[in-house]
Amino acid sequence: MFNEIWQKRIKLIEEEILLEINRTETINEELLEAMKYSLMSGGKRLRPILLMAAADAVSDNGDKFVTVASAIEMIHTYSLIHDDLPAMDNDDYRRGKLTCHKVYGEAMAILAGDALQTLAFETILRQRGVTHAAILFVIAEVTRAIGTNGMVGGQAIDLLSEGKKINLETLKKMHIGKTGALFKAAIRSGAILSSATGEQLQALTKYAEDFGLAFQITDDILDVTGDEKILGKPIGSDERNNKSTYVTLMTLDEAKKLAAETVEDAIESLKIFGGEADFLRELVKTLVKRTH
Ligand code: IPE
Ligand code: IPE
Ligand code: MG
Ligand code: MG
Ligand code: MG
Repeated sequence: MFNEIWQKRIKLIEEEILLEINRTETINEELLEAMKYSLMSGGKRLRPILLMAAADAVSDNGDKFVTVASAIEMIHTYSLIHDDLPAMDNDDYRRGKLTCHKVYGEAMAILAGDALQTLAFETILRQRGVTHAAILFVIAEVTRAIGTNGMVGGQAIDLLSEGKKINLETLKKMHIGKTGALFKAAIRSGAILSSATGEQLQALTKYAEDFGLAFQITDDILDVTGDEKILGKPIGSDERNNKSTYVTLMTLDEAKKLAAETVEDAIESLKIFGGEADFLRELVKTLVKRTH
């Protein structure tokens, strides 16, 4: 059931992304092609799925928000294209395929990332069946999450920490920013779009924070223990770039233990929900067991 829902949602999200891409007008076809290449090259689609699952937990209406959900995936894809650039992590493979800059060149990859970010906001504005106030809330959530105090700020700490020994507090701040913030925005957006109460929003926010942390700890672990073919991206990238990660600051076993504890915390935060939040519970449990 869990996997079925996941696969069904992936299909829905990918259809929507394709629809948005196909109706996007461009004065340069190659730019749009580069955007489409990275958007349609797979991926777990976790952030849009979380948005929809949060809406399900509140009002059982996740499918309705596929447009905003797809926009979040565009932002995520933009962040990956830029993350892989030579000036950043310099990685050649992503989602089992050559990275955007390897196919289209660095300059075009930078532009594809830029354009995906703006397309995301255009897409959010296309969401039907919701109030203007809800759309404004989503835009406020997302802009806050991906800027200086969130994703891009976290990426800045990540890059400036290369080759340095940072403490656990800084590492946590970096993870909350570079990875956690977008997860949180996705989940909170789903909750608000489906008219969550204050209590529900608070519980889902706490779940999102734990989810994001457990996710990035696992990403750090997989960079060491993963299988490149299954992972779809190079392993050892963090070590090559002298990154500070949960695996460099603590032992592998300690990192795994922390991830498992964080998953427990995430599940605990959903205690006000019944079976309608089972998908979210299952999702965070699969996190630490994932291989890609
Ligand atoms: C990878 O995210 C980048 C991080 C924020 C750690 P995902 O593991 O969700 O990547 P895809 O979308 O499934 O490829
Ligand atoms: C990426 O973190 C975070 C963002 C893209 C915002 P990583 O650099 O650890 O992600 P991977 O391991 O390359 O997917
Ligand atoms: Mg990185
Ligand atoms: Mg990277
Ligand atoms: Mg990583």
